[in-house]
Amino acid sequence: MLYSLSLAVLALAGSAFGREMEKDAVRAAKLYDSGVRHSAIMAKKHDTWQKQRDAGLFDSSLYPDIDKKVPCINGTATAIPGNANYTFKCKDMDLYHFRSHASLGSNGGEGSSSWGWTSPDGREFVAIGQSDGASFVEISKQGKMIYLGRLPQYSVPIIWREIRAYKNYMVIGSEALGHNIQIFDMTKLLDIDPANPVTFSNEQDLTGLFTGLPIGRTHNVVVNEETNWAYAVGAAPRNSSCRGGLIFIDLADPSNPTTPGCNPDDGYVHDAQCLVYKGPDTKYLGREICYGYNEDTLTIYDVTNKKNSTIISRTSYTGASYTHQGWVLDTEWQEFLVMDDEYDEFDAVEPAADGFPVTYIWDIRSLEAPKQTGIYKSKTHSVDHNQYVIDGYSFQSNYGAGFRVLDVSSIPDDPTGKGVSEVAFFDVYPEDDNTPLGGVVDFVGSWSSYAFFRSGYIFVNTIERGGFVIKMKNRDQGYGRGRGRGRGRGKGNGRGGRPW
Ligand SMILES: *[C@@H]1O[C@H](CO)[C@@H](O)[C@H](O)[C@H]1NC(C)=O
Ligand SMILES: *[C@@H]1O[C@H](CO)[C@@H](O)[C@H](O)[C@H]1NC(C)=O
Ligand SMILES: *[C@@H]1O[C@H](CO)[C@@H](O)[C@H](O)[C@H]1NC(C)=O
Ligand SMILES: *[C@@H]1O[C@H](CO)[C@@H](O)[C@H](O)[C@H]1NC(C)=O
Repeated sequence: MLYSLSLAVLALAGSAFGREMEKDAVRAAKLYDSGVRHSAIMAKKHDTWQKQRDAGLFDSSLYPDIDKKVPCINGTATAIPGNANYTFKCKDMDLYHFRSHASLGSNGGEGSSSWGWTSPDGREFVAIGQSDGASFVEISKQGKMIYLGRLPQYSVPIIWREIRAYKNYMVIGSEALGHNIQIFDMTKLLDIDPANPVTFSNEQDLTGLFTGLPIGRTHNVVVNEETNWAYAVGAAPRNSSCRGGLIFIDLADPSNPTTPGCNPDDGYVHDAQCLVYKGPDTKYLGREICYGYNEDTLTIYDVTNKKNSTIISRTSYTGASYTHQGWVLDTEWQEFLVMDDEYDEFDAVEPAADGFPVTYIWDIRSLEAPKQTGIYKSKTHSVDHNQYVIDGYSFQSNYGAGFRVLDVSSIPDDPTGKGVSEVAFFDVYPEDDNTPLGGVVDFVGSWSSYAFFRSGYIFVNTIERGGFVIKMKNRDQGYGRGRGRGRGRGKGNGRGGRPW
């Protein structure tokens, strides 16, 4: 009696929280493998951005720089009194600096991703994605962006530009035809006089150029510094032999990046995180694993052997609309990850039906059978986008809702997500604050952020305006905070080291 009761309770718990499911092959053929859903999202973004362009909203002269520090007081950071577009909703974060895209050297504005690099002597630099290239700044000790120059786009301007660091290099891909992947040595910035910013040349200043993409386009590029590999993901077209899957790029010699092949087996990969596996699934200890965010599934690869990479599991979930990106909770002990879906709010399905973003929590203690154990529901109407987890915080760029910080350190103890809370935010897009639900479900505002600096300064890139430097008032500096039950403490990761 007792036994069957507890079984019944377990079954109930399973049905309440187990939201993982098999990939729906019919739906996948129609919407995902065909590229129909992805094309629709790209078209929607083009449409939003064209409307903004037509309305002049990418004109940097609308967005004066803010040089002074603007504290968050009682939920508001007022940069220009009386100007609603410069009155930012906030919680426990202050603004240190804002510079428009023009002020950051762009002719065309339109920001995207960004990534940071810390020099061996502790100076902090950011490479900022813009439609016409990458802008370079140093963040001063006072949290001010010092503009140092830029690397123009390789082929033609386009808003999609993704940047990741590999040691002292930036690896830069874009959706522009014929762009290839630029490899730029950040040490070139160390001796620049800010009075004379430098426009670098693609012909003379690149350390390397990876030309092995089917048509030079890639949606994103991710790096595993521990193994010296990069992975191009979402490299169009889908009918190429790699099908937009993982394309392996050997960075051991950054001046001569080469590829031994790809993994096309689950088709298009929108984003991925590739790591040496450390965690409880002993069969995979020390293997190189890619967590793939594959439009309708979380797909986990073993890429240790680039000539024979395999798929360990492929799992969909309740609410899957466009599986977009995610990050493991603890790279040093991989038991859980958080994931965003970029279209569930638009699609108005399942937990995102009300248009309030959903952070999906996965238990990956078995790589062969991951479980979707819970969610966190944002209280700000918008679309959630790129997130990175650092020592128990998930730093999210949620488009019109701006930059949001979740405390996810409770997840190992409660994978349902009940203990997750929003501890700080800075809403870089006040334009939508007075809409009926307090924010729009659209592709505006913040694209991505970089929160790994030891100084605690956080860089946030925005689509329309430019770059923000902000900082949490109370960032918990407990080393190992939120890590998997105290195991596997982090070590320097080559991105300038783990900050806290
Ligand atoms: C913040 O709000 C509280 C309560 O509304 C008020 O007492 C306090 O004076 C405000 N502080 C500032 C600096 O405006
Ligand atoms: C704020 O931005 C909106 C466009 O998003 C514009 O229509 C409005 O005029 C701006 N307001 C001010 C005070 O600049
Ligand atoms: C892929 O499809 C495009 C049009 O959809 C076509 O022009 C191209 O030839 C195809 N490429 C391959 C390798 O099949
Ligand atoms: C490739 O990997 C799979 C799974 O690990 C293994 O069964 C197979 O034998 C390997 N094939 C080759 C050619 O190494």
